[in-house]
Amino acid sequence: MLAKMLKESNYTVVLTGAGLSTESGLPDFRSSNGLWNNRNPLELATVDAMEHNQEEFISFYRQRMKALLDVVPHAGYRILAEWADKGIIKSFITQNVDGFHTISGHKDVAQLHGTLRECRCHNCGETYPMETFLESNDLTCVCGGFIRPSVVLFGEMLPEDAIHLAEEETNNADLFIVLGSSLQVAPANLFPQIAKQNGAKLVIVNIEQTPLDDIADLVINKRKIGEVLKEVNESI
Ligand code: APR
Repeated sequence: MLAKMLKESNYTVVLTGAGLSTESGLPDFRSSNGLWNNRNPLELATVDAMEHNQEEFISFYRQRMKALLDVVPHAGYRILAEWADKGIIKSFITQNVDGFHTISGHKDVAQLHGTLRECRCHNCGETYPMETFLESNDLTCVCGGFIRPSVVLFGEMLPEDAIHLAEEETNNADLFIVLGSSLQVAPANLFPQIAKQNGAKLVIVNIEQTPLDDIADLVINKRKIGEVLKEVNESI
C-alpha cells in the first residue's frame, strides 16, 4: 500500500522524528526509555534552564553531543536517500538535531529544531564547532555571551528559513509521510494536518499510536521504520 502511494505520488514530503534515529542507537524522547522518561524537559531544554541550571544543562547537551560521535545513520536513511535521488521524495522536514539527513546526503531538509552538530553564542549568534561546547572549559563568546548548542530550546523561535521551507513543502505535497514522531510538539505536528487539509494523503509510520492516526489515510504502527522502509524498497 505505501509503495503504491509513493509510486502514484507526484510530490512526497517526509516529516521525521526521533523514532527514525533509534535504530542507529540514539534515544528518542517519549518512548519508555526516551530522554524525557526520567527528566522534565522544561527543567533542561529551556533558556531558563540554560541560565539557572547551567551545570545540568551543559552536562545534558554534552552527553547528547558525545552520543553522536559513536553512531551513524542506519540503512533506512540510505533508502530514503535513494528515493530522494530518484525524485520519489521531494523534501524532508525534520525535528531531529542529529544531522543524519544531511550526513545521508538528503538535500532539501528543513531542520525545524536546529542541530546539535554546531553551537552558537546566545547573545551575538556567532557560530562555533560542536567541539567548542564539548571540550572548552570556558563557554564565553568574545562578546561575553554564553556559547550554547544550536538547537531550538522549548519556548524559543524556530529558524525562519526552516519554517518557510516546511510550509512551502507541505503546501506542495500530495503525499505526506510521518516517520517516527509522537506528533506531540507544535508547530511540527501542524504540518501533517495542513497537508491533509490541502487534500494530500497522510501516512504515519510510528511504533506507538499518535494523536493524528485517526486523520491518516494509512497508519503503520507496531513495526520498526527500518523494516518498513526495507520492505517497501523491495517493491518500489
Ligand atoms: N520505528 C518506528 N517508530 C519508532 C521507532 C522505530 N524504530 N523508535 C521510536 N519510535 C517512535 C516512538 O514510539 C515514538 O512515538 O517514535 C516516536 C518518537 O516520538 P518522540 O520521542 O516524542 O520524538 P519526536 O516526536 O521527534 O519529538 C519531537 O520533542 O522534545 C522535543 O525537540 C524535541 O524534536 C523533539 C520533539
